[in-house]
Amino acid sequence: MPREILTRHEWNAVGGLRGDNLLREAFFETAAPRAADLVLTLEIAMGVGLLVGARLARKGRFRQHAWCQSAIVLLNLVVVVVMMIPSFRVHVLPRIPAKLGRAYYALATTHAALGTVAELAGLYILLSAGTSVLPDKLRITKYKTCMRTALVLWWVVLLLGLATYVRWYVPHLFRK
Ligand code: HEM
Repeated sequence: MPREILTRHEWNAVGGLRGDNLLREAFFETAAPRAADLVLTLEIAMGVGLLVGARLARKGRFRQHAWCQSAIVLLNLVVVVVMMIPSFRVHVLPRIPAKLGRAYYALATTHAALGTVAELAGLYILLSAGTSVLPDKLRITKYKTCMRTALVLWWVVLLLGLATYVRWYVPHLFRK
């Protein structure tokens, strides 16, 4: 059947049978657009990258730790600004607060709110530890606690992003 008359999800299933792109079909057999799959993959890689970066600090390799965490916080800022905020404005914002009782919107809204806090926390730590632009009284004093809290929050946001992805693009999980 020509691709034009199949829905994306049907095409994924047919694509699996055709045997091409097998890894993608096996991994992401969903109705998600490619952009969402890309964001999900990037975000999981960044989440793991932050854990690797945290290990670097434990080993005393602070310079590499700083580069690793800073690059991830900045790359994530680009992904959030280019992909997530526009999606939030189109798909979620017009339905708040009326539809907040539904998991579809509640998950995305909680994710976006905590995600904003996590990204701002990352940027604040980056500015405080890696530059001298902040006045002394605005600088962090308890780095270890702050960084650990930010890492835990980041992972909570990542899991909420994953839950949003599942709720938005894996509909058969929710069908009875
Ligand atoms: C630390 C910060 C963040 C992380 C780790 C993160 C992670 C993720 C992940 C893994 C997904 C699933 C992939 C997808 O469906 O595209 C996702 C989706 C989404 N995120 Fe985030 N996110 C963060 C911040 C934000 C912020 C600040 C907003 C909005 C203000 C936001 C709004 C969304 C929306 C609306 C989606 C669904 C996008 C779509 O599929 O069209 N996220 N996020």
